[in-house]
Amino acid sequence: MEELIRMRGITKWYSRGENLIKALDGIDFSVRAGSFTAIIGASGSGKSTLMNIIGCLDIPTAGQYELDGCDILSFPENRLSEIRNKKIGFVFQGFHLIPGLSAVENVELPLIYRGMPRAERRELAADALERVGLKNRMNHRPNQMSGGQQQRVAIARAIAARPPVLLADEPTGNLDSRSGREIMSILQELHAEGKTILLITHDSTVADHAQKVYTMCDGRLKGPAV
Ligand SMILES: Nc1ncnc2c1ncn2[C@@H]1O[C@H](COP(=O)(O)OP(=O)(O)OP(=O)(O)O)[C@@H](O)[C@H]1O
Ligand SMILES: [Mg+2]
Repeated sequence: MEELIRMRGITKWYSRGENLIKALDGIDFSVRAGSFTAIIGASGSGKSTLMNIIGCLDIPTAGQYELDGCDILSFPENRLSEIRNKKIGFVFQGFHLIPGLSAVENVELPLIYRGMPRAERRELAADALERVGLKNRMNHRPNQMSGGQQQRVAIARAIAARPPVLLADEPTGNLDSRSGREIMSILQELHAEGKTILLITHDSTVADHAQKVYTMCDGRLKGPAV
């Protein structure tokens, strides 16, 4: 299998007043196409910082990063959003749905940004919602759905444009254990269908669903443990 994500010496420093915080301290990390990888670690260890760099939402202070053969750090900032839209779907702990829009409108929104014609995007959005078992909730607003259902809408939004990589940062963090298990079984099904999944969590039972588990500790990555 080819390497979809390849990082070398990734470092991220934040300055806070006079202090320099080394959020990431020389990360070497690779993810193969079609794999299911988890990163666990304590609060503040640098997991989200790494995820944001992998997702091209942030750039490192130093290091090298190749995503699907693209040398990400050589691209200007305005090209990064293009790459991000094509290659990566995001799922966050807090769902990040737009309250005034229905489920299907939320899923369609990133497709509108991609300039996709209405009929095509409606079809992709409906397919994605069906994929997460919410065909009969397409016209519900977020406040008419449970937390688990809202997270399933967020997964549908992440996969609608069929990006090769799905990044999930604490996707079960706000959910009860039963809804959390449902979300994990959807991620496992997507993996079985060929999606590359990268999961960030502080919960080792959630991480157990992955093929490889890395541990983040004080900005350094150890593992894999599996
Ligand atoms: N924008 C920022 N400015 C300054 N420091 C930051 C910023 N973002 C993160 N940090 C610091 O970088 C370190 C890593 O933070 P990060 O959010 O990556 O941790 P995390 O592992 O995701 O934690 P959690 O499990 O609580 O989500 C922490 O010390 C944090 O305070
Ligand atoms: Mg975090």
